[in-house]
Amino acid sequence: MSSGGELWSAVCALCVASPWAGARLTVASGPRSGYRGGPLSERSIKDLFGDTFGLKQSQIKRLEATYRRRVGSEELCSPELARHLTELSRETGRQIGVLLTRKGEVEWVLVGEPSRTVLPDIGRARAGQSRLRGLRLVHTRLGEELKGELLTRDDLTDLALLRLDAVAALGVTAEGLPGQISAAHLLPQNSAGKLWEVEDARSFHELAPQWMARVFALEGELSAQARARPVLGAGRAVVVSVGQHGRAAAESRLTELRELCATAGVEVADVVLQLRRGLDPRTLIGRGKLQEVVLRSMQQLADVLIFDHDLTPAQARGIAEETDIKILDRTQLILDIFAQRAQSRDGKLQVELAQLRYRLPRLAGKGDSLSRLGGGIGGRGPGETKLEVDRRRVRERIQRLEREIDGLSKVRAVRRQRRTRRELPALALVGYTNAGKSTLLNALTEGHVLAEDKLFATLDPKSRRLRFPEDRAVILTDTVGFLRDLPKDLVAAFRATLEELHEADLLLLVLDVADHEHEIKLQAVERLLVDLELTATPRVLCLNKADLLPPAEGQALARQLGGLLISAEQRQGLPAVLAEVERVLFAPRAAGPLAAALSIDPEAPAQAV
Ligand code: GTP
Repeated sequence: MSSGGELWSAVCALCVASPWAGARLTVASGPRSGYRGGPLSERSIKDLFGDTFGLKQSQIKRLEATYRRRVGSEELCSPELARHLTELSRETGRQIGVLLTRKGEVEWVLVGEPSRTVLPDIGRARAGQSRLRGLRLVHTRLGEELKGELLTRDDLTDLALLRLDAVAALGVTAEGLPGQISAAHLLPQNSAGKLWEVEDARSFHELAPQWMARVFALEGELSAQARARPVLGAGRAVVVSVGQHGRAAAESRLTELRELCATAGVEVADVVLQLRRGLDPRTLIGRGKLQEVVLRSMQQLADVLIFDHDLTPAQARGIAEETDIKILDRTQLILDIFAQRAQSRDGKLQVELAQLRYRLPRLAGKGDSLSRLGGGIGGRGPGETKLEVDRRRVRERIQRLEREIDGLSKVRAVRRQRRTRRELPALALVGYTNAGKSTLLNALTEGHVLAEDKLFATLDPKSRRLRFPEDRAVILTDTVGFLRDLPKDLVAAFRATLEELHEADLLLLVLDVADHEHEIKLQAVERLLVDLELTATPRVLCLNKADLLPPAEGQALARQLGGLLISAEQRQGLPAVLAEVERVLFAPRAAGPLAAALSIDPEAPAQAV
């Protein structure tokens, strides 16, 4: 026996380094000789798969006769069939193979080249599925090929990616008889991370007669594992991140992606980090690495691959062609969170619009891969089949949504005018997601705006009235959290939030100062404010979560960043915020510090209406 884990490392190393990757998985796309495809019931029993050019008629006849052979359902291959294959292989100088069904029938006879066998398209396996393919591959290896291992990288990749029941390579002796054999089957998830087990025998006859019985037992274990796995939230993901600017930057992005996953209710089963300069235009991470990722997702029983990168339509399609597993990129994950969280009609329409806009260019391809592109997790994406059927309808829907959203934005404008007529100044809370904006809104207004430790707890703008003394009041609005690299599409889609920002007389910029990345996040927010042309609006920087820092550190940061140190949760530092708001908004009329007027105890909650 040899270890699948070791082999796996070797395979991975080669996957990245050489162009072999997927050589055989990308199965022959068209007929080479008499190939008509489809299941056995739909094609002539005589169809051979592979190149029969140059073979004698008698050899072709004997190859075709292979279809009449049967093997015991629990044996890997019968001695008679093994001998038949090795004889033909020796005679033709080619690899000859068979795909055998569970019943022991020959589903395909494969005529290979001297050093490789190409498989017909039997479809790709869906990663995470608990059942095996129900087909096993047995093929010959000719003498001169036997310098290394009998089973090749292609064999083992096919075993895993196609979820074959088993794969075996049968050596051919100089006399054309069965020689050594190597057979492999997949393993259930295990702590050693082994994907498969390989058994080598010096002679075909040394192999256990009921070799397949262990595979069937294993399949039971695979299903049991799948059943026992707790269904957490929306799914189980393998997260893929590409670092172009060094490990530290990549890891920090990964942390954010993990938080996004948690917010979306997705369990992160495994993380793959690849450092590379350029991005692969077709697969983002290169085909070999992608196959490694797909294998890992299978091992982890994952249902979704999440890329910490926005995929171009070509990449999305390129990746979808390599695997059946669902694919999401960062934008789609964010959109998915928006879709989960949007509560108002306006918010829902805008999320759908953003999803459709993002998806439209990705609908250019054909084939079933589309169903895995652009949909949300757990079917929260727009109706998938409809979209595949008709791109025109997607465009029409986009236009309808735009009209409807325009209508709603007029309603909002009227509402805002009313506010303006009442001369109520508007104050908007902005900041990086999870900074504590909703908590601050609650603290200031004693409201119950959703505040939770997940990114994007807030989606729809939430407005509250905050009453000041002397009959003054302001409208305080919470907004959607910012993120670095917030895709432009999303910025455009969330006009509801952004319109509120343009109406604001003052921005309360909330920063989680206890976050070790606070400077990067502050810069990201500031960049977005520049993008949104909001630099002219006065702002007050609230350095939140001060309770998590030693006081001296907090004060040093306050001096350095020029902000007010607060703890929205502990309701500390709020009087200073209110005083500053009062100073900026009502300066000409202000009689004195608002906090004093309100007699706010620094420890006590802010006054609200
Ligand atoms: P998004 O809606 O994602 O943009 O988040 P947000 O900025 O509105 O943040 P939210 O108010 O939901 O708070 C995020 C998390 O930080 C919650 O778990 C809060 O309880 C926590 N939090 C907020 N303010 C403070 C604070 O002053 N101190 C501490 N320790 N935690 C806080």
